[in-house]
Order: sequence, then structure tokens, then C-alpha cells
Amino acid sequence: MATVREPTVHDAHALGVVHVRAWQRAYRGGLMPDEYLDGLSARDRAQMWAESLQRPPRPRFARYVTEDDAGAVVGFITVGPTDGDTDSEMGEVYALNVDPDAWGKGYGRTLLKAGVRALSDAGFGEAILWVHPGNHRARRFYEASGWDPEDCQRRQEVLGIEVPEVRYRLPLDQTAHRRS
Ligand SMILES: CC(C)(COP(=O)(O)OP(=O)(O)OC[C@H]1O[C@@H](n2cnc3c(N)ncnc32)[C@H](O)[C@@H]1OP(=O)(O)O)[C@@H](O)C(=O)NCCC(=O)NCCS
Repeated sequence: MATVREPTVHDAHALGVVHVRAWQRAYRGGLMPDEYLDGLSARDRAQMWAESLQRPPRPRFARYVTEDDAGAVVGFITVGPTDGDTDSEMGEVYALNVDPDAWGKGYGRTLLKAGVRALSDAGFGEAILWVHPGNHRARRFYEASGWDPEDCQRRQEVLGIEVPEVRYRLPLDQTAHRRS
């Protein structure tokens, strides 16, 4: 059974590794250039995480990690208001990554549930996320979790690379979330 908790600064290294391994597996094969993926540095990502985790999450933002049975961090999710704008009426899943060796075991679903609940608890009535149109595994995963693709695409710079993205939306039933 996957457990979810808030990360601490001690998780920075593990998060850097998960982040890079997930991207290298998910985006290989034409979604992102091989040389970009090969150049990703777990140490640089860990540094980013360390800086971010030194500060508590801002109001209406949340981040969670999940651990395997041995207590190793195998995934994370970050959520908050769209575009990081605290006045936004809409919530967003910014990032969700699971280590490829742990795919298909329910970690992603557990993290997504925790992230969606946090958005609902923060008072958002709906949520969006952006996914690479060619990331079929993630798209199947989100669609199976009730998210709907929208007729809305953009090109966006994400961590130093410009990628196409398609938007997904999920209405947040606050009553149902509060009851469960
Ligand atoms: C997309 C991603 C987060 C999904 O995470 P995951 O941990 O593999 O997802 P889950 O295991 O929860 O669900 C995936 C499948 O495993 C199945 N599953 C769930 N629990 C399971 C369990 N205990 N045992 C076996 N399989 C299980 C689910 O039914 C699901 O199958 P389905 O898609 O046919 O419905 C992960 O593949 C990932 O990190 N990808 C790379 C990064 C990425 O693309 N992120 C999203 C960018 S927006």
C-alpha cells in the first residue's frame, strides 16, 4: 500500500533522481531530444528541490511524495493555483512523476488523489493540468482518473526546453471530497 507524506529537505536527493529517471523514460523516442534527456542532471534537480523544500509551501500550494515498502521515495506531485497565481480560481497539477521501476503499481494514482484532494480542500472548484500530446501513458492514466482532454494546446518552456502541451480539466466536487 503506497503511503503519501509531505517531503522534507532530506528528500531532495531522492526527488532529483526520480525526476530525471521519469523524464528520461517518458520522453525518450522523440518527445524530447535525446541530447537534452541525456544531459539532465539529478544533482541539479536535487538542488532545485533542496531550495524549494527549505521553504514551507505557500497557501493553496501542496507537494507530496510516496514511498515504496522499503521506505524509498518513488514519486512526487506538486499542485497549486494555475500559473502559480495565488488569486487564480482554478487549481493546477504542476508535476507528477513516478520512478519508472515503480510504474503500474498504483503510486501515481495515490499521488494524484492526494494532490486533487489538496486542491479541493484549498477551495478550487476545478483543476487543470498540461501534458505532452505524445505522452500516451500519462494521458491514459489521467483519462482513467476522470480528467478530460480539452481543445486547448500551447507550446511552453519547461525546465529549459520548449514542448507542446495539451490541457486536461477535472471538476472538483468539493462536497464529495469533504465527505470521503
Ligand atoms: C504517468 C505516471 C505518473 C503514472 O504513474 P503510475 O504509478 O505508473 O500510475 P498507476 O500505477 O497509479 O496507474 C497506472 C496503471 O497501473 C494500474 N495499477 C494501479 N494500481 C496497481 C497495482 N497495485 N498493481 C498493479 N497495477 C496497478 C492502474 O490500473 C493503471 O492502469 P491503467 O492506466 O490501465 O488504468 C507515471 O507513468 C510517470 O511518472 N510518468 C512519467 C512522467 C509523466 O509523464 N508525468 C505526467 C506528466 S503531466
